[in-house]
Amino acid sequence: MTSPRNAALEYAKENQEKFLNSLKDLVRIPSVSTAPEHKADMLIASHWLMERLESLGFDTRLIETEGHPLVFAERTIDPAFQTVLIYGHYDVQPAEPLDLWLSPPFDPEVRDDSLFGRGASDMKGQVIACMSAVESILKTTGLNVNLKWLIEGEEEIGSPSLTPVLEEYKELLESDIVLNTDSGMIARNTPTITYGLRGLAYFELRVFGPQSDLHSGIFGGVVHNPAQALCELIAGMHDEKGRVTLPGYYDPVIPVSEKEHKQLAESPLDEDFYLKQMGVNELWGEEGYIPAERIGARPTLEINGLYSGFTGQGSKTVIPSWAMAKISMRLVPNQDPAEVQQQLVKYLQTHAPNTIRWELTPMAGAPASLLNTSLPASEALADALEKAWGKKTVYKREGGSIPIVYHMQTILGSDSILSGFGLPDDSVHAPNEKLDLPTWYTGIEALIHFLFNMQDLEK
Ligand code: BES
Ligand code: MN
Repeated sequence: MTSPRNAALEYAKENQEKFLNSLKDLVRIPSVSTAPEHKADMLIASHWLMERLESLGFDTRLIETEGHPLVFAERTIDPAFQTVLIYGHYDVQPAEPLDLWLSPPFDPEVRDDSLFGRGASDMKGQVIACMSAVESILKTTGLNVNLKWLIEGEEEIGSPSLTPVLEEYKELLESDIVLNTDSGMIARNTPTITYGLRGLAYFELRVFGPQSDLHSGIFGGVVHNPAQALCELIAGMHDEKGRVTLPGYYDPVIPVSEKEHKQLAESPLDEDFYLKQMGVNELWGEEGYIPAERIGARPTLEINGLYSGFTGQGSKTVIPSWAMAKISMRLVPNQDPAEVQQQLVKYLQTHAPNTIRWELTPMAGAPASLLNTSLPASEALADALEKAWGKKTVYKREGGSIPIVYHMQTILGSDSILSGFGLPDDSVHAPNEKLDLPTWYTGIEALIHFLFNMQDLEK
């Protein structure tokens, strides 16, 4: 007799192509949350997910917000069983610059064991992996675990409409554990659990100079060029040691302990990895910290985009009337995005010259989170990953952000366990995003093991 576990694993093996086709269908929907012109696609994607979950026997509902809706689904069999809430996001980052894609971002293509397309790795692939694991179990022997789904449409823009939903639907969203597969693996064949995420504080800074663009010969020499003023302000945001200069920025930051330093020093994501991955001559960053610390445990400040003046073909002699930068900070535990905003305002008040006027608009913001890896569900996940890969699970502190993890902790009182089957070279948020399919199929097996492990946990 095959065990229920093996029956589900068998089903997953036999249906790999069907799962892949399902993922391709979802990737074809250009659900870019930040772009107003994709609002209809966001609805199409959310309904696509609802239909999939309904076909698996879930009761579904669309939770409307001021922004993009969330998909909720539920299959509660017995309150005495464990309840796992599976988190996902169906939104993706913009695909631009389009000319750098080898195949169109929303026309998924398999090349060399990878599926290429925007969202293939971050995180439509992970959502479909969860659905495939659940399908494999429900279509074979079933499971004595209550399952809920929450799939949001605004993760990639910092989940601005999320907290009122968590407040309002507290009871509906109750669970014993949240499974979040929006993180990734530290390397191929290295099952990974993420135990820390950085937070984010994102701003648009505009600098205004003369009331209109000016001839750079007629006016050059008597006016402070706003593009230059913006560059000067930005240049002052780091010191020569690569530290962020905003007043008080590091005050709440918890130092890296000796023990964690040793752990992080063993990360395969070392200097060499980053040099190769990014194709640069030399790394850059805060002095005195190794790459794994600079990414996992230290806060940073990045310029995401710059715009001013003439950027077309050829030359045009002009002094622009304004300049703009998109600036974000990755935060670590204990840093508060609102406080960081105040620090940035203070910096600008102190350093902005009288020759220009500035305006700061806050965009995404979310605190960092640290997770408990000794929860029974976390151990159940580690064991599941080990069963699927036949290797020990490694623990990682991630540099990226997932705002809902913090909000679920504080509003719902729910702990998340974080993993996922993306690889460090998946080019997430960049052209030619891909998903490694052999890893993905093993990930589906791991999720099957996880759900059976949860069934075996005493409540
Ligand atoms: N999946 C990522 C976060 C992530 C990246 C986790 C790499 C683990 C490894 C997520 O979709 C993401 O990109 N989040 C945004 C959130 C932000 C807009 C608040 C991010 O980190 O930029
Ligand atoms: Mn992302």
